[in-house]
Amino acid sequence: PEKIILDCDPGHDDAVAMLLAWANPQIELLAVTTVGGNQTLKKVTNNALAVGTVMKMTGVPFAAGCDRPLVRPVEVAPDIHGDTGLDGTELPAPTIELDSRHAVDLIIDTVMAHEPGTVTLVPTGPLTNIALAVRKEPRLAERVKQVVLMGGGYHVGNWSAVAEFNIKIDPEAAHIVFNEPWKVVMVGLDLTHQALCTPEAYAKIDAVGTQPARFVHELMDFFRASYQDAQGFDYPPVHDPCAVAYLIDPTIVETVQVPIDVELTGTLTVGMTVADFRGPIPEDCHTWAATRLDHGRFWDLIADALERVGEH
Ligand code: BDR
Ligand code: CA
Repeated sequence: PEKIILDCDPGHDDAVAMLLAWANPQIELLAVTTVGGNQTLKKVTNNALAVGTVMKMTGVPFAAGCDRPLVRPVEVAPDIHGDTGLDGTELPAPTIELDSRHAVDLIIDTVMAHEPGTVTLVPTGPLTNIALAVRKEPRLAERVKQVVLMGGGYHVGNWSAVAEFNIKIDPEAAHIVFNEPWKVVMVGLDLTHQALCTPEAYAKIDAVGTQPARFVHELMDFFRASYQDAQGFDYPPVHDPCAVAYLIDPTIVETVQVPIDVELTGTLTVGMTVADFRGPIPEDCHTWAATRLDHGRFWDLIADALERVGEH
């Protein structure tokens, strides 16, 4: 199995990423860390512990990280995720306790405790924790196997015309992460806008028939209403689990090697992930962009994870 650290800001789609990372047998979830993003750090951390409780995630350390971006002021996304960051369902009181370490230290400790080249970082929120971790412990850049992140895109934005939320919220952190020499796989909007929770996807979730499946159904209902109102989608794009799905089966999430950098100074384009598709690809190119999703098999993975979690 692929050993991963999930760094997230739950978040409706982050919750589904947690489910997939926890329950799929091809993933070994080493830690869950949280970062301020969709909502404040306090709220997303509470949400992570509650989702972990619903999904019966035992034996995985959870740690809270940065409560604000490196340079810019806090900006949250209540239009998409509601006031709690996970509106639309009843959250249980968490039975999981938070690790006493800061997320940045848990990330560093975990990577350094494993063989070089064996741990993959999977950020599904702003990149603040990951950037700070590699600044605090520069050996991470060669020690980490790869960074498979949900964020960015080469075609459209969602937090501006050209910038995606996770990158736009903390572009300086994203700039650090894209410019370290590790392998970066950008699972961006080009890919995740194919991961729509369609009626076929709902049917797969509902067929599981358990309380955790109903929990995901309720999350999807709220997410769909948000995406209809705020972004004009018929069905919500369930971004974050796509990064986990890539690690489970790269034939479900296809990628292409392409140089990518993050815009920091453009008045209209700050936070844009600029992919340079002019060939030839330079030999030292260490960045990949996700292109095409197998929608049916992606939702099969989600349903399979719910089956494995079982009844609450
Ligand atoms: C990303 O932003 C957040 O709202 C989602 O959780 C996802 O990580 C999509 O742009
Ligand atoms: Ca997220």
